[in-house]
Amino acid sequence: MDAKVKALIREMTLDEKIGQMFQASDFHFSNDEDLQKAVKDGRVGSFLNIQGAEKVAEIQRIAKEESRLGIPLLFGRDVIHGYRTIFPIPLGMAASWDTALVKKAMRISAVEAASMGINWTFAPMIDITWDPRWGRIAETTGEDPFLTSQFAKAMVEGIQGDLNDPTALAACAKHFVGYGMAEAGRDYNTTYIPEPLLRNVHLKPFKAAQNAGALTFMSAFNDLNGVPTSGNAFTLKTILRDEWNYRGMVVSDWASIEEMIPHGFATGKKHAAEIAVKAGVDMEMATTAYIENLKSLVEEGKISEELINERVANILRVKFKLGLFDKPVENSALSADTILAGSHLEHARVLARNSMVLLKNSNHILPLSKDIGSLAVIGPLADAPHDQMGTWVFDGSEEDSQTPKTTFRNLLGDRMHFASGLEYSRDKSNKGFGAALSAAGRSEAILFFAGEESILSGEANSRGIIDLPGKQSALIRDLKKTGKPLILIVMAGRPLAIQQELKMADAVLYAWHPGTMAGLAIADLVFGNYSPTGKLPVTFVKGAGQIPLYHYRKNTGRPASDSDVIHIDDIPRNSRQLSLGFKSMHLDYGVEPLFPFGYGLSYTKFKYSNLVLSDKALNLNKTISVSADVQNIGNFETDEIVQLYIRDRVGSITRPVKELKGFRKIRLVPGETKTVRFEIAPGELEFFNGEKYVTEPGEFDVWIGPNSAEGLHAQFELR
Ligand code: BGC
Repeated sequence: MDAKVKALIREMTLDEKIGQMFQASDFHFSNDEDLQKAVKDGRVGSFLNIQGAEKVAEIQRIAKEESRLGIPLLFGRDVIHGYRTIFPIPLGMAASWDTALVKKAMRISAVEAASMGINWTFAPMIDITWDPRWGRIAETTGEDPFLTSQFAKAMVEGIQGDLNDPTALAACAKHFVGYGMAEAGRDYNTTYIPEPLLRNVHLKPFKAAQNAGALTFMSAFNDLNGVPTSGNAFTLKTILRDEWNYRGMVVSDWASIEEMIPHGFATGKKHAAEIAVKAGVDMEMATTAYIENLKSLVEEGKISEELINERVANILRVKFKLGLFDKPVENSALSADTILAGSHLEHARVLARNSMVLLKNSNHILPLSKDIGSLAVIGPLADAPHDQMGTWVFDGSEEDSQTPKTTFRNLLGDRMHFASGLEYSRDKSNKGFGAALSAAGRSEAILFFAGEESILSGEANSRGIIDLPGKQSALIRDLKKTGKPLILIVMAGRPLAIQQELKMADAVLYAWHPGTMAGLAIADLVFGNYSPTGKLPVTFVKGAGQIPLYHYRKNTGRPASDSDVIHIDDIPRNSRQLSLGFKSMHLDYGVEPLFPFGYGLSYTKFKYSNLVLSDKALNLNKTISVSADVQNIGNFETDEIVQLYIRDRVGSITRPVKELKGFRKIRLVPGETKTVRFEIAPGELEFFNGEKYVTEPGEFDVWIGPNSAEGLHAQFELR
């Protein structure tokens, strides 16, 4: 392949090379002829957001048959959690902790997208964030580097499939890197990430994506430690190319090269192009700093043609690997029954069901009996076909959405009493309260569909207050007064601060934005066809003031537990005390989260016992084995997600209080016990200490448990 790439580059003019480095869209051209001429002249290497299988095929034909060198084009589009069949938002997918289900969802998305001529998608998004204010938390797979790395692999494998297949899409690991640490959770904001944190957390999923064969990476928008990531030679060159020897291609994020001007890092477009191309961005998305300036930069001797050759080689390699030179222009992936195929919709239902997390279930109020005499379906998300799909949906259509209202109507007929109560999540009017209360009054139980519209999460859509918007809380309070069992189902793009509503509700099922099949998946769980199995991929805070709060946190020199906390309301008036215990805590929130990472209930109960370590003292060259027995002691057959955490007690830099090191989903019938065994290779205890990667001898804690706050505990020593 390298020989082929070299030979091709030898034949290319400088203009043709620079053309390869430009990702254009419709808006760059005044009309179709203009666009086609640019393709014929070799002035474009890729398009994004060109719509329509036939249009794409025709442009590809021109590139391959009418341009001088016949170099095929990449057609990119954001297929983030489904093409037409919409799966749960990635944060929801992550709550399944099921990489096989997620891989299959990404494969289905790729198959649907490929049928429209798309051969490259800007996914997976594998940023780590500790801030639920950030709107793009919806697109992440949560707060943990290990969990996100597992999903990075699964998603890359699902998207790309077999590269020789017509349904293969090139994956794009984004956003490289640190974008999720935006200050105050405000999108695009500055990030400061010390190198140990960068390497031990934020870079990990990207390494996993590389290992899984991700053909492309995307540089990000954020300024990282003073250097914008689309011009950051440390991350793009030193780490990605020199250390990791990544041979795929790097595309900029939308306009992120030009945005180095407002960042205050480049004097103008030409300077921005010079910085980005030197740092390691191969292709520019959407803006024209490269196409307008690279030639003169070469002519002026500011950059060499060899550097351009290197960049172009990265691009061409992707095109060869994806087989674009050989695959016929006619779209063989196109088949009328691909989009919204029955099997795709069924998988969307399965994944949605697996993504939902049961947070509370007092008195086993759930599941409800299918024979229930009457049921109220209330709330702004009960019939919100667009919003239930979540953010980043270009091609999904609300007409395909199965809403809870439709589903429960179909299942219960007249026994279902519907009143939205609020027209949309931010609705501040209580004119619908009367109807909602009357529906509740006529029913045996209430399902309240709370949450956020999809527009309140996603790119640029960050919030400072992360409570339920509008008057939802007030309506929930009124409904509570009816004395009817109140079940809250929350559809949202982020972990909302639902502390108050949690107290009022008898049960809470967190459904994220579940996608096309929301209604059916929810009904599956509400009526107990299946038990909820999802576990939180993020810590739930009590209120935005607790942010950032995450299980990977450090212990501090003054750790507190909730029992140390004197609540602000309990401080005596005229207290003359200097402090209330000199511990690290909030007087109002305490120290614990609302729900810890990894948390989730089930319709059954599991008992953990018999934690066994292969040895008390372990050798650096040996794999450590840890096992525990998990028994289903309830009466519902279902899955449990068993989690493994460790803590490195003392390090050459301080170590987190909990690190996820493994998880497994196991199925247990009532009464059944399974032994779950994890192997920890010494390499997995490695971390970057500011100077180098080390695995340090010493004492370790280990837990196997149902979430990050509970579990069986043991200790071992690494010698
Ligand atoms: C986003 C990327 C996305 C790109 C192309 C940008 O605004 O940050 O995640 O892939 O647009 O649509």
